[in-house]
Amino acid sequence: MPHYFSLGQIPHKRHTVFRKPDGSLYAEQLVSTEGFSDTSSLVYHCYPPTMVDKIDEPYSVSPVIAEEKNMQHRLFRGFEIKPADDYLESRIPVLVNNDVHISLAAPGKSMSGYFFKNSGATEMIFIHHGEGLLRTMYGNISFGYGDHLVIPRGVIYQVEFTSDDNRLFILESFHSLRFPRRYVNRAGQLLEHAPYCERDIRKPGVLETHDEHGDFLVKIKRDDRIWPYHYVTHPFDLIGWDGYHYPYAFSIHDFEPITGRIHQPPPVHQTFETPAFVVCAFVPRLFDYHPQSIPVPYNHSNVDSDEVLYYVDGDFMSRNNIEKGFITLHPTGIPHGPHPGAVERSLGAKETKELAIMVDTFRPLKLTRQALAIEDPGYYKSWIQ
Ligand SMILES: [Fe+2]
Repeated sequence: MPHYFSLGQIPHKRHTVFRKPDGSLYAEQLVSTEGFSDTSSLVYHCYPPTMVDKIDEPYSVSPVIAEEKNMQHRLFRGFEIKPADDYLESRIPVLVNNDVHISLAAPGKSMSGYFFKNSGATEMIFIHHGEGLLRTMYGNISFGYGDHLVIPRGVIYQVEFTSDDNRLFILESFHSLRFPRRYVNRAGQLLEHAPYCERDIRKPGVLETHDEHGDFLVKIKRDDRIWPYHYVTHPFDLIGWDGYHYPYAFSIHDFEPITGRIHQPPPVHQTFETPAFVVCAFVPRLFDYHPQSIPVPYNHSNVDSDEVLYYVDGDFMSRNNIEKGFITLHPTGIPHGPHPGAVERSLGAKETKELAIMVDTFRPLKLTRQALAIEDPGYYKSWIQ
């Protein structure tokens, strides 16, 4: 969870008179989470954020579930997801449950003509290919290859790409996404043994204040529906804000790997936690340095979680025939491990260049129709020697 931050102008005291140069009042808004019990921000608008002119017919974006119950190792070729020009239309859910939706996207164009707000989920957008600017009501953040963009629920945003070959791996989390508790002290500061620190968390930079009237379409997502809201003032009309609730970027290239003499377990790679799933980053690192160490992981059973790996770059030492953009799913209770030849191949290796994101969900994942369309159906047999 990020720390206290302030951008733009705010009054000295909260909930007090704060006037514009013309003498009229700015409009204060508290954006709070878990009722009033968790992180919040106080934001100051040029105009009240409540001026809705029209709501168009909502439409469904529900994932189409093809397999409700899965008990088989699966492999999906993520780059075979079809590109789409529009950002929202490009987002294709592949693995879902009630805690998280995992989607892939290949948007061809920047968002234009509308803004987006996810009112049901905090988003983590991993940038596999592409670069540009994340515009938000809290200010802008530039992004590029390897960034995790964390956008808390309720933040209005637009994505502006300066590239057209964009590939995104997206989590919609129905729980707050936090830094692992063991890495945070009582004051909320990241501890010395954490694999990243506050300097790696990139907060909104430039705050653009759009003091504008017009017809502003904000597509609001909740419960697998999009509600097209029309506001009469620009959603990015903040003159300033402060608090703990805001979007940020964290690059996988800033994750400092924790290594050891013998194989380190997956939690050393952890980036985020929720009550229902964890996220990890596997990054280039020196391998284990015990003279008899086996660098690749042992066979293991995730008896409590479904394990999703999204392969970003580099050789994945423990797996054969893995390409960029592939997703593997290893469900609860079925052992998996190094592919044939991987253990011998790893002996004596000094380093790995692998780059991957892992998501372990504590409840089973369902497969969507679009996931089955990009599946390699023989994967579960790939361990036969
Ligand atoms: Fe695993």
